[in-house]
Amino acid sequence: MQTVKIGNHIIEKTASLAPMASVADKAMRIMCKKFGAAMVTGEMASAKGLCYSDRKTAELLCTDDFERPMAVQLFGSEPEFMAKAAVIASSYKPDFIDINCGCPVPKVAGNGSGSALMKDIPLLGRIVEAVVKAVDIPVTVKIRKGWDENSVNAVEAAKAAEQSGAAAVAVHARTKNQMYLGRADLDIIALVKQSVKIPVIGNGDVDSAESCKYMYDYTGCDLVMVGRAACGRPWIFSEIRHFLETGEALNPPSAEKQLQIMEEHIRLLCQYKGEYIGMKEARKHTAWYLKGRPGAAKLRNRCGTLSTLLDFEDMLNDIKNSEQ
Ligand SMILES: Cc1cc2nc3c(=O)[nH]c(=O)nc-3n(C[C@H](O)[C@H](O)[C@H](O)COP(=O)(O)O)c2cc1C
Repeated sequence: MQTVKIGNHIIEKTASLAPMASVADKAMRIMCKKFGAAMVTGEMASAKGLCYSDRKTAELLCTDDFERPMAVQLFGSEPEFMAKAAVIASSYKPDFIDINCGCPVPKVAGNGSGSALMKDIPLLGRIVEAVVKAVDIPVTVKIRKGWDENSVNAVEAAKAAEQSGAAAVAVHARTKNQMYLGRADLDIIALVKQSVKIPVIGNGDVDSAESCKYMYDYTGCDLVMVGRAACGRPWIFSEIRHFLETGEALNPPSAEKQLQIMEEHIRLLCQYKGEYIGMKEARKHTAWYLKGRPGAAKLRNRCGTLSTLLDFEDMLNDIKNSEQ
């Protein structure tokens, strides 16, 4: 397997798990890692929240050695806060600090953070520089194609990140205005790759081993990052690895095995977050896992009502009985 060096870490060129707020928590990251994710990034954490000692924000940063190499992601718009938050975040011993320059949601972008930094490249550069100075671990930056189609500036943003000391840049190949709609533009990833020397991580719409290989081949990127396609399907990472290594498709786990994987994930969620919160979050994960099974629409409704591990076990038994 080919590798890429980011900072002092050697990463296999398979695929990494994208940061996803309220999704890429420790349980999800561990599941993806078990199936061979090359690296993982956690949920974005607010720099101000960390600086003001918000307990919930700090909880987002807790990591497990099994996840390595892993990145924690910060968002903010002020270099001083970002630097201070990076110091706090690095005490949780991640392998990388990632800076969010892509989040489109109003409560982030509306405050000048996330994708709003694509509209102020000098500020993006100052933030990266401040964070790089503050910590002794590699700093990566996740950008978008631009703010909108009239201001496509991923190359400019990536160059600013590189000049400010970033160790790698991830490109979500959509503008902020596209949110998550429309096709990802692989040409912009290729263009960024040709424009900087630091490793470039391609991201957007990879949903199979084949589309992962296509992104590597088409863009020349150094690593591929997968987000939504890993939801309810952490085994996509082993499919990608197998295909890149052998050129052959790996069958997904059997329907029965998929239930076992889902159960492992939900038990981890409850272990880390307690049954009350864990089961609330299990609602979306179980719906993703069960998509495409017989009676999926009814099952999805049932997933939405799960409140206890007992509810989950009952559902699991009913599925097993009905599929026998
Ligand atoms: C539910 C959800 C939450 C996300 N949260 C974050 C986040 O916290 N930080 C970030 O940089 N990107 C976030 N993203 C964007 C993803 O990291 C990724 O760039 C995007 O989903 C495109 O990749 P995909 O097509 O493989 O899903 C999120 C996406 C989704 C769907």
